[in-house]
Amino acid sequence: MAGVAIIGLQWGDEGKGKITDYYAGKVDCVVRYQGGNNAGHTVIVKGKEYKFHLMPSGVIQGKKVIIGNGVVVDPSVLIEEIESVEKNGINVDLMISERAHVIMPYHRLLDGAGEKALGNKKIGTTGRGIGPCYTDKIARTGIRMGELVNENMFKERVAEIMKVKKPVFDAYGIEIDEDKMIEEYASYGKKLAPYVGNVSYYLNSIIDEKNVLFEGAQGVLLDIDHGTYPYVTSSNPSAGGIFSGTGVPPKKIEKIIGVLKAYTTRVGMGPMPTEDNTEYGEYMAKKGHEYGTTTGRKRRTGWLDLVAAKYAVMLNGIDEIAITKLDVLDGLDKIKVCTGYEYDGRVTDEFPFSSKILEKVKPIYEEFDGWDRVEGIKRYEELPKNAKRYLDFISEWLNVPISIISTGPAREDTIHNPS
Ligand code: IMP
Repeated sequence: MAGVAIIGLQWGDEGKGKITDYYAGKVDCVVRYQGGNNAGHTVIVKGKEYKFHLMPSGVIQGKKVIIGNGVVVDPSVLIEEIESVEKNGINVDLMISERAHVIMPYHRLLDGAGEKALGNKKIGTTGRGIGPCYTDKIARTGIRMGELVNENMFKERVAEIMKVKKPVFDAYGIEIDEDKMIEEYASYGKKLAPYVGNVSYYLNSIIDEKNVLFEGAQGVLLDIDHGTYPYVTSSNPSAGGIFSGTGVPPKKIEKIIGVLKAYTTRVGMGPMPTEDNTEYGEYMAKKGHEYGTTTGRKRRTGWLDLVAAKYAVMLNGIDEIAITKLDVLDGLDKIKVCTGYEYDGRVTDEFPFSSKILEKVKPIYEEFDGWDRVEGIKRYEELPKNAKRYLDFISEWLNVPISIISTGPAREDTIHNPS
């Protein structure tokens, strides 16, 4: 009995939703610790598709779901998700940290304005106000859920910070109707008040007796500290984010599962050494339906990058790996895997600190023969020989066992505990 964490080892979109959904069935409670509605998790259960941006995906299994203090909350999006789940006859057992920061309308406007100002150096954000909301958190000019749900506190807080924010709004030509904003947000506060509480006390009171799953959003390579800065998100998807983002101490996490897609994708700008713009990349993007759940943008696609994956495994102390979307590689005659970067005449297997360097590295590839079909296979023994070879190589290279292999989008298309 303790905490288990699920973390994306690439640039997000690894298929964490499906893996979380599998584990959610075995735990009492699912927790999100960072990010906001920039995330998008799709879960397919019995042919019905559910999409979540903020709510932990365990909600459809009737589990207690928790939004930790490290998450930034767009209240209107959360209300919409609560209502859509309830409409499907599912009871929402949700607790939101009173310390979680609120995405205000001006955060979304600042997100767009900031991107515009960056011109061709823009990050390619999801435009949901994530960066500006975290900026206010760090600048100590944010508004938290505990304030949103208390009208007097909320009004007082808005008045306090508007003085500081005014010059920023003026600089970007952003106009805010303060009274209208207060009225709208106070009404959200009323709706969300029943769910807001002290998550840190709650989690610490149950973590020794109950099974708790911590669900990461985005991926390690988008981590504000460890990712491909500045082409990153503004939070810590890495394991470290769990502790600061929930108030649960490190010793309480027993197992950390890394989710690794059998190839690589990235949305938005920034370096991606294994990006493949040939018919192979196109094949994987098409077959893998690589379009963003949140923005609908086409994802950049390429081969699996084991230099990046090894870095992610190291940073998170990954105990087990879940390989997702293996079936997307079905039908390829060859499959490449990057095991080194060549830069400045030297080969390295270290992930560089600078995006400017990463942009210039030349990936060194190992090549594998492809296979016909793994789609829908549910037993390891039935996998084609070449697929097993590919998986063994990944596991050995990363020195981590593979505990789950996903061979299709449905919950049933999964191999557990392969030998
Ligand atoms: P932001 O999180 O909206 O500020 O966007 C920053 C970067 O992170 C952009 O490159 C986004 O495309 C990327 N990003 C944010 N959330 C996700 C996600 O859930 N999956 C994949 N990429 C994401």
